[in-house]
Amino acid sequence: MAADDLDVVFTVLPGALPALRRELVRSGLTTSPEGGGAPEADDGAPGDGPNDADADELRLTLPRTAETLRTLARLRTAVSASLAVATDTGRPTGLLSSESLGEVDRVLEAISWQRPRVTFSGLRLEAAGAETPQMLRIAAELAERAGVPVSEDGDLVVRVRRARGAGWEALVRTTPRPLATRPWRTERYPGALNATLAAVVVDEVEHVRWQLGGSDGGVDGDEGDAPVVVDLMCGSGTLTLERLARGRVARAVAVDVAPEAIAILERHQRASRIKGRIEAVVADVADVARTGGVLADLAGTADVVVANPPWGELLGAHATNERLSRDLLDAADRIGADDVVVGVLTHDIRRFERVLDHDARWRLIARPQLFAKGHRPRLFVLVRA
Ligand SMILES: C[S@@+](CC[C@H](N)C(=O)[O-])C[C@H]1O[C@@H](n2cnc3c(N)ncnc32)[C@H](O)[C@@H]1O
Repeated sequence: MAADDLDVVFTVLPGALPALRRELVRSGLTTSPEGGGAPEADDGAPGDGPNDADADELRLTLPRTAETLRTLARLRTAVSASLAVATDTGRPTGLLSSESLGEVDRVLEAISWQRPRVTFSGLRLEAAGAETPQMLRIAAELAERAGVPVSEDGDLVVRVRRARGAGWEALVRTTPRPLATRPWRTERYPGALNATLAAVVVDEVEHVRWQLGGSDGGVDGDEGDAPVVVDLMCGSGTLTLERLARGRVARAVAVDVAPEAIAILERHQRASRIKGRIEAVVADVADVARTGGVLADLAGTADVVVANPPWGELLGAHATNERLSRDLLDAADRIGADDVVVGVLTHDIRRFERVLDHDARWRLIARPQLFAKGHRPRLFVLVRA
């Protein structure tokens, strides 16, 4: 690796790698979804390659510039980005050689270029055997160089591990919080989506719109056209806010049967600096399905309809997932434009498949499996048959 390069390791949710690869192109960090830097040989094919589905990491060589660090901090589909320092010696204390420590200084300096300036409260070392004397020595030395104490709840996170092949490496996270943390999330909501996962859902739906010619996908850095976007089961608003963060919309409508969800969404939007107004409405998807209800004016106009239906205990006592799924598809049919793209993220995969099997109106375009809090939901991306 050249002296003016950085060895960047992204942590990704399983299933999220294709979306991250596309975001890296949109953000200008790479020039092709394969990664314009230096993708590892076994990363799998770009896009939907066999190994992409379960990969939880992506490694790229990127230029060591303030612009790179600024762009890394803004990524929405990665869990975190870290800068790697490697030693080819067989012991982790090889990281304390003058050469490796020089590299640590260069990495810390690059992290300090971020604006607004990031400050760290302490260094947390994550490693197998983090309490062994040699790991404690590494933590103490790196913390001293960073000018912070070693701390169990430190936010300068350094992961020390065996490198692939031979030797050891230290991965220094570039931001005090994981990239998945969103400043707008001020309240907890049962069943709220992880924001990184929501950004991935938004990207997968936009990618299908682009493949079908309905959008430029923002792949070249453009915002794309401005679609009418509706979330039929919005909860705290994660999908809608992530869609607004992605680019312009003509209208963003967020619906939930629970008034407290709509109240939280509105507070989240106020706390966000994301441009664009969300029309937040209390409504039952069953009414939208039957008559259009409060969404009657949307009939035939929505370019994108998304929903993340409840499951398990979050499902009301009287509801059934089949009923809800049918209502959801009826509502999407009513409000969707001819070329509507529908994205349903559900844990209830079998039941949703059964409902789809009996509904000739929809064609399944993609069905990526994603990962959320120990669950493995699928995103069903549908268009009219
Ligand atoms: C899994 S949560 C959605 C979480 C949301 N994606 C978020 O990030 O906060 C499912 C939502 O569906 C809503 N819901 C359940 N039945 C509904 C119905 N018949 N019509 C509209 N919304 C409904 C629930 O109130 C709940 O907020």
